[in-house]
Amino acid sequence: MSQDSPRLTRLIACSAVPEGCAVQVEIEGRAPLAVYRLEDGYYVTDDTCSHGEASLADGEVLANGEVECPFHGGSFDIRTGEARKYPCTVSIAVYPVSIVDGEVWAELEPARHLENNKE
Ligand code: FES
Repeated sequence: MSQDSPRLTRLIACSAVPEGCAVQVEIEGRAPLAVYRLEDGYYVTDDTCSHGEASLADGEVLANGEVECPFHGGSFDIRTGEARKYPCTVSIAVYPVSIVDGEVWAELEPARHLENNKE
């Protein structure tokens, strides 16, 4: 995919996302996103927890590739969006990422949700 693809949206410079952390990115006209930098690359999910109105970018990125919600301690798999720890039971959307010229781009439509939501 190229930078010119209409399906890709520029989110943030790679250098603005420290390893092992998440950064909230706001795109006009849609709910905020969270951009994560893990040991194997960058990932993008919806930023708002499926259990409440918490920003997952304010949560803790765990060594096992999960993000822990700052409100009630539930967690999600950052790579798949799967809800991993109660009280989170509904997955969050994940978006394919491309790195172009040192910037994180994502394919935001359509959002990908796991088929196996527990609710
Ligand atoms: Fe995220 Fe409750 S709002 S676990």
